[in-house]
Amino acid sequence: MKKLGVAVIGTGFWGKNHARIYKELESTELIAVCDVNPERAKNIADQFGVKPYASTSKMLKNRRVDAVSICTWSTKLAREALRSLKMKKHVLVEKPMATNTKQAKKLLETAEDNSVCLTVGFLMRFIPGLKRIKEAVASKKIGDMVCATAKRVSQWPERIGDVGVVKDTAIHDIDIMKYLTNEDPACVYAKTGNMRHKKFEDYAQIMLTYEDGKSAFIESNWLTPYKTRKLIITGSEAIMKLDYITQELWIERQKKTVQPKYKFKEPLKLELQHFVNCIINNETPIISGLDGLKALKIAEAALKSSTKNKVIKLKW
Ligand SMILES: NC(=O)c1ccc[n+]([C@@H]2O[C@H](COP(=O)([O-])OP(=O)(O)OC[C@H]3O[C@@H](n4cnc5c(N)ncnc54)[C@H](O)[C@@H]3O)[C@@H](O)[C@H]2O)c1
Repeated sequence: MKKLGVAVIGTGFWGKNHARIYKELESTELIAVCDVNPERAKNIADQFGVKPYASTSKMLKNRRVDAVSICTWSTKLAREALRSLKMKKHVLVEKPMATNTKQAKKLLETAEDNSVCLTVGFLMRFIPGLKRIKEAVASKKIGDMVCATAKRVSQWPERIGDVGVVKDTAIHDIDIMKYLTNEDPACVYAKTGNMRHKKFEDYAQIMLTYEDGKSAFIESNWLTPYKTRKLIITGSEAIMKLDYITQELWIERQKKTVQPKYKFKEPLKLELQHFVNCIINNETPIISGLDGLKALKIAEAALKSSTKNKVIKLKW
C-alpha cells in the first residue's frame, strides 16, 4: 500500500517528536522537514534521512508531500498552516492553531475550499483515561456533572515567548471542557497576570459556566517549581481524577476508590496515527478546525474578562 507522504514544519522541541513518529508509523513516509533555522532543519533531516528545507514555499511544491504537521512558534502557526492548505496539503497545526480567531476562521474556510483535512494538536484528547472520563460523563456513570477542575502548572518554560499562558497552556483545558461537556460555555470570568514574563500573562485562573449550572475552573501558570497536569471531575455520585503525566485514573465513590489500569500509550503517536487514518480513510478528525477556533474564542474572552474585570457572556 502506498504510504502517505508527510513533512514537518518547525523542527524545534516538539517538531522533532512529530518527525520521529512519522518515521516510526507504518502508514507514513517522512519526506522532508523545514525550519527557518537551516542548521536545525539539517540536523533533523540528517537524523531521519530526509530532505531539509529552510523555506516552506519550496517544500510545499513537493508533490510527494500529502500532509504536514505545523510545529513552528505559536505566532507563525496560522501563516504556515494557511500556506499549506492553499497548496492542498492536509494539515495538523499545533495548538493554539493561530494567535486570534480571525486567523483561525481563515484556516477553516481555506481547508473547506481546498477539500483538505484540518486538525489541531490538542494532545490531551489522546490520553486514554480522558476517553474513559468522557464516557462516564456522557452515560452519567458518575451522576450529573457538577464541575471540572483542571490544573496545569509548571516552571518557566525557556522556549516559550510569543504567546501567554492562556493561549499556550490553558487552551488544552479549555478544549477538554468542550470535549467532556459537548457544550459551549455561556460565560467566562478570568484573572490573569504576569509576575515574571514582561510581555504576556504567566498565570491564569479561568472560570467557565454553562447554561445548566455546571462549571469548570482552569488554573494555569509558569510559576510553579514542579510540573502538574491534572483533571478532577465532580459528579453527583462519584469523582474522577486523571493525572495526564502518569496517565493514572481514579474513580472515587463513597465506599471505595478504584483505579482502572491502562497500558501507557504515547499520546502523540495516537494523535498522528489518527490524523493519518482520517486522511487515508477520508474520515473527519475527532478534533476539528472548529474546535480550535472555539478554544481560541474562549481564550480571547478570558483575557478580555481579566482586563475588564467582568464576566464575559459568549455568543455562539
Ligand atoms: N500539543 C502539545 O502538547 C505541544 C507540546 C509542545 C509544543 N507544542 C506547540 O508546538 C509549537 C512549537 O513548540 P516548540 O516547543 O517546539 O518550540 P521551539 O521554539 O522549540 O521550536 C519551534 C521551531 O519552529 C521554527 N520556526 C519558527 N517559525 C518558522 C517558520 N515560519 N517556518 C519554519 N520553521 C519555523 C523555529 O526555528 C524553531 O526551530 C508551539 O506552537 C507549541 O505551542 C504543542
